[in-house]
Amino acid sequence: HMAPLLAPSLLAADFGNLQAEVERLATSAADWLHYDVMDGRFVPNISFGPGILQAVHRHAKQPFDVHLMIEEPQNYLAAFRDAGAAGLTVHYEACPHLHRVVQQIKNLGCRAGVALNPHTPVSLLEDIAADLDVVLIMSVNPGFGGQTFIPNTLRKVADLKELLVDCGSSALIEVDGGVTIDNATALVEAGADVLVAGSFVFNSPEGPVATLANMRAHLT
Ligand code: DX5
Ligand code: ZN
Repeated sequence: HMAPLLAPSLLAADFGNLQAEVERLATSAADWLHYDVMDGRFVPNISFGPGILQAVHRHAKQPFDVHLMIEEPQNYLAAFRDAGAAGLTVHYEACPHLHRVVQQIKNLGCRAGVALNPHTPVSLLEDIAADLDVVLIMSVNPGFGGQTFIPNTLRKVADLKELLVDCGSSALIEVDGGVTIDNATALVEAGADVLVAGSFVFNSPEGPVATLANMRAHLT
């Protein structure tokens, strides 16, 4: 198995010191910076929008992986791209016209991702998988950091891996929610290419840089 990409989620960072947080991640094992956008509609919580992204992007070294947990994401894609997003991930459950939204993301020059809530089966992606750059499997219910990993995710990742091969899709499999050093290896063995981790990385006693280094060493 190839070593996965590591994507710490800034949702668990110190919001009062976002510049310092991304600056200390600059020389860490982080491959992407995961940016969780919540609108209080699609999910029962509100986080941050394109203005904050633009402000932190100026100080960051890694590409921003923007996870849109919002309704009508098509109305905000350009704003997040302009603010520095390298990848834009929308939720399957928020997009009745998913194919159109995916094309819009690609036309903006961003990596196109689709996220699935824990109850949404991977089979629903059959007819769009070949168009995707990323599929994000939620391993908790979206809305909050610090929740417990849902074990069924492992089977889902393995099923998705098979579906992507069958569809001739080269999409990366990203797993988001409750990821720690204890479930990381099993996730990679099931087929995960990108691991998002928020509280495990930022709330660890060793701090984010050492924790990311430990995860990297553990997975190599
Ligand atoms: C949850 C977000 C996740 C979250 C991960 O709604 O999409 O990215 O921040 O945080 P942890 O790793 O604490 O579950
Ligand atoms: Zn996320």
